[in-house]
Amino acid sequence: MSEIEKQYPFLMACRRQPTEYTPIWLMRQAGRYLKEYRALREKYSFLEMCKNPELAAQVTLQPIHRFKLDAAIIFSDILIPLEPMGVDFEFAKGEGPVFHHPLRERKDVEKLRIINPEEDVSFLLKAIRIVRKELEGKIPLIGFCGAPFTLASYLIEGGHSRDYILTKGMMYRDRPTWDALMEKISDVLIRYLQAQINAGAQAVQVFDSWVGCLSPRDYKAYVLPYSKKVIKGVGKQVPLIHFATSSSTLLELMKQAGGDVIGVDWRVDIGEAWERLGHNIAIQGNLDPVILFGSADLIGKEAKTILHLVKGRPGHIFNLGHGILPNTPVDHVAALINMVHEYSSR
Ligand code: CP3
Repeated sequence: MSEIEKQYPFLMACRRQPTEYTPIWLMRQAGRYLKEYRALREKYSFLEMCKNPELAAQVTLQPIHRFKLDAAIIFSDILIPLEPMGVDFEFAKGEGPVFHHPLRERKDVEKLRIINPEEDVSFLLKAIRIVRKELEGKIPLIGFCGAPFTLASYLIEGGHSRDYILTKGMMYRDRPTWDALMEKISDVLIRYLQAQINAGAQAVQVFDSWVGCLSPRDYKAYVLPYSKKVIKGVGKQVPLIHFATSSSTLLELMKQAGGDVIGVDWRVDIGEAWERLGHNIAIQGNLDPVILFGSADLIGKEAKTILHLVKGRPGHIFNLGHGILPNTPVDHVAALINMVHEYSSR
């Protein structure tokens, strides 16, 4: 581990080194629960904000100005690399992402481009450089991408899905097309994460948000080889967090796929999850984001429970089990961060 990593509790915890207190950051820490975010959103669309480096940098820093967070995460979206691959989508009001031409056949896969991040997502790389400059010596910056399965599911379903019938349909009926698609997405993600690291990201997180819809057998057969390829392809330069939701049955397989840290949601007991994973890997999580709507007492009690379950073992990064929800009370977020620091102080 480098001298630079040693300055930062978040990076130390990723490497399972002891820290003076448990570091905390929150998935989707920049977003609609902040009034300064909503104010910008009145003027710009979400994608406009992602594609404007100055605005993306500004939004990344909004929660950092308010709270004592131990890491920043670049403001962007897992869908950003899909547009330069040749896929058009929009964020429809209240609906989430909508893809106009969902990908269903081999010829659709053949048409996908392998991106050149320096050209195709230069706005993201520039945003990373700006944020790094602003944060120098304060806290580290996390880059991220979606995992191959989660991105494939958006491409095939055309948006968010409940049952993933079309995605699983392609997996089962047309394995060659599935493999060709997963290969191509994996190649793009390796380049995409490497470019973020070269631009200054000091850790990266891979979000496999929807992979929990799969059986362990299917994960192993259809997904694990590609998540592994991405994680291996990115290399060991910076710590990598491998996150999924509803993944309690997949934890051991996710570890096989790789990552320095496994991110878990709130549906598992974090102590048991770490036992199963083994203590030779770090863990991130796992407060239910809905707890932040409860009283300060409840938040404190739940934070204490999580800290108790991991027993102060080096290698725990406190986080929510999934992204912070719109309408979350801002003062509760501040309270959580302060309580985690206070209760874990060693
Ligand atoms: O964590 C952060 O603060 C960094 C920013 C970030 C966003 N999206 C900003 C965002 C990150 C890390 C993501 C990842 C992302 N995007 C995931 C994986 C994490 C997860 O939640 O499981 C997924 C599945 C997406 C795709 C996506 N982006 C959806 C489904 C939606 C619409 C649903 C929603 O929450 O509105 C988005 C939009 C989005 N991404 C917003 C933000 C702040 C809201 C945009 C707005 O202002 O309207």
